[in-house]
Amino acid sequence: MTREAAKTELARLALILADANAAYHKLDAPELSDADFDKLKRRNAALEQQFPDLKRRDSASDQVGAAPASGFGKITHSVSMLSLANAFDDADVTEFDSSIRKYLGMGADVPLTYTAEPKIDGLSLSLRYEDGVLVQAATRGDGSVGENVTANAFTIEDIPKTLENAPNLLEVRGEVYMSHADFEALNMRQEARGGKTFANPRNAAAGSLRQLDAQITKSRPLRFFAYAWGSLSSPLAETQSGAIERLAALGFATNELTKLCQSPQEMVDHYAKIQTARSALGYDIDGVVYKLNDLALQERLGFRSTTPRWAIAHKFPAELAWTTLEGIDIQVGRTGALSPVARLKPVTVGGVVVSNATLHNEDYIAGLDSKGGEIRGGKDVRVGDFVQVYRAGDVIPKVADVDLTRRPDSAQPFEFPQTCPECQSDAPREPGDAVRRCSGGLICPAQAVEKMKHFVSRAAFDIDGLGAKQVEQFYLDGWIAEPADIFTLQTRYGTGMLQLKNREGWGEKSASALFQAIDDKRNIPLARLLFGLGIRHVGEAASAMVALHYGTWDALDQAMEEARDLEGPTWEDLVGIDGMGAVMAGSLVGAFAQEAEHASIKRLVAELDVQPAIRADTNGSPVAGKTVVFTGTLEKMTRAEAKARAERLGAKVSGSVSAKTDILVAGPGAGSKAKKAAELGIETLDEDGWLSLIDGA
Ligand code: IVH
Repeated sequence: MTREAAKTELARLALILADANAAYHKLDAPELSDADFDKLKRRNAALEQQFPDLKRRDSASDQVGAAPASGFGKITHSVSMLSLANAFDDADVTEFDSSIRKYLGMGADVPLTYTAEPKIDGLSLSLRYEDGVLVQAATRGDGSVGENVTANAFTIEDIPKTLENAPNLLEVRGEVYMSHADFEALNMRQEARGGKTFANPRNAAAGSLRQLDAQITKSRPLRFFAYAWGSLSSPLAETQSGAIERLAALGFATNELTKLCQSPQEMVDHYAKIQTARSALGYDIDGVVYKLNDLALQERLGFRSTTPRWAIAHKFPAELAWTTLEGIDIQVGRTGALSPVARLKPVTVGGVVVSNATLHNEDYIAGLDSKGGEIRGGKDVRVGDFVQVYRAGDVIPKVADVDLTRRPDSAQPFEFPQTCPECQSDAPREPGDAVRRCSGGLICPAQAVEKMKHFVSRAAFDIDGLGAKQVEQFYLDGWIAEPADIFTLQTRYGTGMLQLKNREGWGEKSASALFQAIDDKRNIPLARLLFGLGIRHVGEAASAMVALHYGTWDALDQAMEEARDLEGPTWEDLVGIDGMGAVMAGSLVGAFAQEAEHASIKRLVAELDVQPAIRADTNGSPVAGKTVVFTGTLEKMTRAEAKARAERLGAKVSGSVSAKTDILVAGPGAGSKAKKAAELGIETLDEDGWLSLIDGA
């Protein structure tokens, strides 16, 4: 057998064996006889012996039986799957174009071309082709790690299984969706068999793709549009539109409403055209995506933490409906915020049944904005009112308006509680804060539970089999009171396994899978740990930023200790992190400064093995870990681009020169910073010197 043929055969065997494995272990429905399975496995091993360097990362030889019973295998995306920033009106589109020009240092007269195409309302999927053979399909997941749905993708007709004349490595990305007609028919079939029906085509598509049994996926008519790519061994084209044409030529379905536009005006004109066509398309779209056409410029623009600078989604306006407000509940969040939730008579808003909506806060119910001005003309919201519900995309629906002509005589103004409904502690409202907060801290059961729900959530510890429902149950049973308890669950209950497996909904298998899943997460990246702590104002992007800045848990912990008085060099250093503000920094330091909270965090960390944060792709970068300051005028790129590029290469960019500075990049007109650098003996480069230093990195 030739090397080429062996490679293809190994890819084929990997697929068959993975499928057979999945069918056997997850579905208890073997597809191959044991003898056939063993035969294929031996063939795989033999080929690997003959061509050891062709052995695949997902080789069946390395797989020892059961994949996690609770779900799909995980796949780390080689290029993250990002989301898009949103535009809501024409002004946002103009602003998108101006911000690109500003970043690239291009005047309004330089021509720039954009693509405009429908934003498909489905779920994104990444398809990996090696030597023209489909070898892997992964959902987006959290953007960096998705689920392995290879077997399912194989059942989708729109997805080519082999490609001709494709780059050796090609990852094609696009949207899996279901047409309106197929959705209606599926719901009818489901109803007829007493199965579950779906709220909308997107849920139906997601539910159908994420089936452990690929046979079920096969019976659901899913479709796929290609609109992007991940890793590539060679470029597809020089432009976005060229790349899409190439994908079409390779056999992918691409959207025919994609158009090249020469200005923001042409973009919003095409948006209007797509909006008019929307109802007749036969599938759901929720906006229009604009992308800068020139791929070299896309590359220069790069990414913010989770979105590209070169693309934006122009969303369609929200949908509205009217219904009765049956009650107002108060929920207590993980930071103690008391949030009013409207209980509504169920109503369909844009195809989705809505029975809860947010009322934001006390002032919002009273008809006031955060500055004491009127909203809704000062109309308050009362239980019994006829209210307008507003829903935009995935956002939580909200109560937007009240019809006073239909207000019942008996309706009374809503009295917002001044104490926590869960623990009866005072719930004061700090000056300048729009919300009341429970002062109970760790004694408030609602805060404790919400903190732990956040802790196990997808972007945090993401523990398989431990979701919101289980956290609530375990908390009520007194099994866990804080995150650290999750990791001592098994030891504290030597017979915990037994107890758990005797509970409703748990069996021996799921109990041991849970303890395994918990153990797997002891090894956790610093950023996830920090985000998991659920500190107010410290979201996912901020956590990643802080983790990169300090690198290790010990360094972070020590810095928080040193910064506790909110002054001094360590505090200045923290506030100086790009994107950090005094509010976020204060909240972070505050959490570590509270004795009980810090002790709880320490108990948690003692159970973990925290992975230091390292910048990706900075291997071989000559400036990784160095602190760089830019000063004076840059002529080949804007300051924003210079900074983003330096950061991508692992450098820290600072605004002021100090003993910690490694390199000063000084353009014409550099003043006091250059002087100070000279005094401190810091290496100083001009723009060309800097560019040649990072050239090729
Ligand atoms: S481009 C790096 N194009 O929208 C940007 N996304 O809100 C890659 N989506 O996660 C995305 N239609 O699932 C792009 N024509 C389109 C799209 C599209 C739908 C989805 C995609 C993405 C989400 C972002």
